[in-house]
Amino acid sequence: MAPADVALLGGLDSDREVMRFVSGGAPTPDSAIADWVIPRSQSQFREHGTGLWVAFDRRTGRFVGWVWLRLPRHSALPELELSYRLRRESWHRGLATEASTALIRVAFIATDTERVFASTHPDNVRSQRVMQKLGMRLAAENLQREQFDDGFTGRDVEYELLRHDWHRNHRPTGAGTTGRHRLVSPPGTVEMPA
Ligand SMILES: CC(C)(COP(=O)(O)OP(=O)(O)OC[C@H]1O[C@@H](n2cnc3c(N)ncnc32)[C@H](O)[C@@H]1OP(=O)(O)O)[C@@H](O)C(=O)NCCC(=O)NCCS
Repeated sequence: MAPADVALLGGLDSDREVMRFVSGGAPTPDSAIADWVIPRSQSQFREHGTGLWVAFDRRTGRFVGWVWLRLPRHSALPELELSYRLRRESWHRGLATEASTALIRVAFIATDTERVFASTHPDNVRSQRVMQKLGMRLAAENLQREQFDDGFTGRDVEYELLRHDWHRNHRPTGAGTTGRHRLVSPPGTVEMPA
């Protein structure tokens, strides 16, 4: 684990607006990133080739945010959960959609997953718009979510993309090449497929 990754991820999660629909605005402690987020990404990469990808602006080299393709904790089904979190100054540039498009390709080409799903707070219209642009369909509403210390509650919506739908609609030129992405583990830079 690179200590620099803890600082990058922690800095991102210290922005209340970024965390608004994630935790009600509460930051993530660095200890949770160091002891849970990064080790989980590393073990999933070792075992399944999935994990947390950090993204950098190709032009400036600045950290943009992350996209995560992870094995859900409580599911034995062949499915992967997609999530994304970007620094506020990187919003509205299509980057979440671009990076997620690339990871969905990874999911359906490099793993045997049958379904990629993503969930968010129902008021997080921006995030749902990304899911729609990825070709995901609304799959569930009113899903129970965690309650945070500051009273943030809500019931999530879930969107999904099934393997056969992805294959049917897949366009080889779907992802852009604005950014540079690398997996948190192992260290090094991995260019995402275009
Ligand atoms: C959700 C998030 C990743 C989106 O990143 P992004 O790079 O700005 O997303 P994109 O630019 O690819 O697409 C955003 C879409 O939402 C739309 N949008 C932006 N603000 C909006 C708003 N207030 N209401 C409705 N739609 C909005 C944009 O117009 C765009 O759609 P379009 O391309 O059809 O115009 C980013 O806002 C973020 O990191 N938020 C904090 C973390 C978070 O909430 N993560 C999701 C929780 S699971």
